[in-house]
Amino acid sequence: MSTASDCPHRIGSRHDPHAQAREARRQPLLLHSMSVYRELFEVIFEHRTITTIVEIGVESGHGSAMYAELGASDVYCVEPEPSDELRAYACEHDALHLVEIPSPKALETIPPADLYIVDGDHNYAVVRRELDWILTHAPDAVIVLHDVLWPCARRDLYYEPLSIPPEERHPASADGPTVWQDELTPAGLVGLGAFRTAEHAGGERNGVMTAVEDALEQSDDRWHCELVPAVFGLGVLVRRTDISADKLLEALRPYGRSRLLAAMENNRIALYTRVLQLQYEAAAHAMDADRLAEEIARASSEKNNIATALDDAVARHSAEMESLRRKNNLLEQQIEELANRTIASRVRTLFRRGATRGS
Ligand SMILES: C[S@@+](CC[C@H](N)C(=O)[O-])C[C@H]1O[C@@H](n2cnc3c(N)ncnc32)[C@H](O)[C@@H]1O
Repeated sequence: MSTASDCPHRIGSRHDPHAQAREARRQPLLLHSMSVYRELFEVIFEHRTITTIVEIGVESGHGSAMYAELGASDVYCVEPEPSDELRAYACEHDALHLVEIPSPKALETIPPADLYIVDGDHNYAVVRRELDWILTHAPDAVIVLHDVLWPCARRDLYYEPLSIPPEERHPASADGPTVWQDELTPAGLVGLGAFRTAEHAGGERNGVMTAVEDALEQSDDRWHCELVPAVFGLGVLVRRTDISADKLLEALRPYGRSRLLAAMENNRIALYTRVLQLQYEAAAHAMDADRLAEEIARASSEKNNIATALDDAVARHSAEMESLRRKNNLLEQQIEELANRTIASRVRTLFRRGATRGS
């Protein structure tokens, strides 16, 4: 019987109950790198001889190193805007060759390969050109495409909109998609300046899956697509030319047909876009709180200014009252003295008159 103790480092045991949680928090919150599909690439490498790979859209380069580990001797990493980290990474690994030209133009500069990994500019115009080139020039290759499910399946995403003729691109926005509504929203999966998203989903010539369908429609009907419903969707295109192609498709089928994977992917995108919405609302509330704090600080400083002005006015009025009181006292004193002097003068006058009458 196989038990939990077969892989205790991943799922733990009664002596190490936190192993699975440790594993879970080691992962980024949003899985999106091709390296999560290692298990599927192992299946591809088992069934096909893969020595040369063209990887379109590389980002960090960790996926590229995985392909070399799996046995590829040459991995052409097509990335028009490589980071310093990727440059350093490519220098450290002999098998990696950095190609700083955008795809599909880059494809013409590289020898045909055994495996193409299409994960660059996720829109109909670019993916369609890439597929048309590969189907024509490398008909025996395996093609792996990322983002064949939500959100790019039926909605273009543009890293470099200006590289596409205007009539081949859709009006795009900095807002992003969410599974909680059909329209884009600033609370959705936004590119933060790295990419823009088509305002409308669906219709003709829109999205990665639509490009796959149209390219296969135009090609010979031996091409087959197995779609794995995990981590934004992985499409594997194989041309059924020999038994090895059938065996590869057969080995991929349990992943492609898994209702469990499909349910988990739907749950994952629902939860992740809910997290994005909550983050957006929290940031908006934090901004409201900052604004409120600023208003309170302004009102409090105004109140202090008014209190100071009031104290000054009270002090000024008290001083004036004191001065008036002093003047009043002085006047009362002067009046009293005047009255006394007047009475004394009258008394003296009366005495004088009395003395005159008596003589
Ligand atoms: C989703 S990321 C690739 C992730 C990578 N494959 C991984 O597994 O980690 C997309 C990358 O494609 C690059 N890109 C955009 N337009 C491209 C083009 N026309 N050709 C090649 N790469 C492109 C972007 O710069 C970005 O680094």
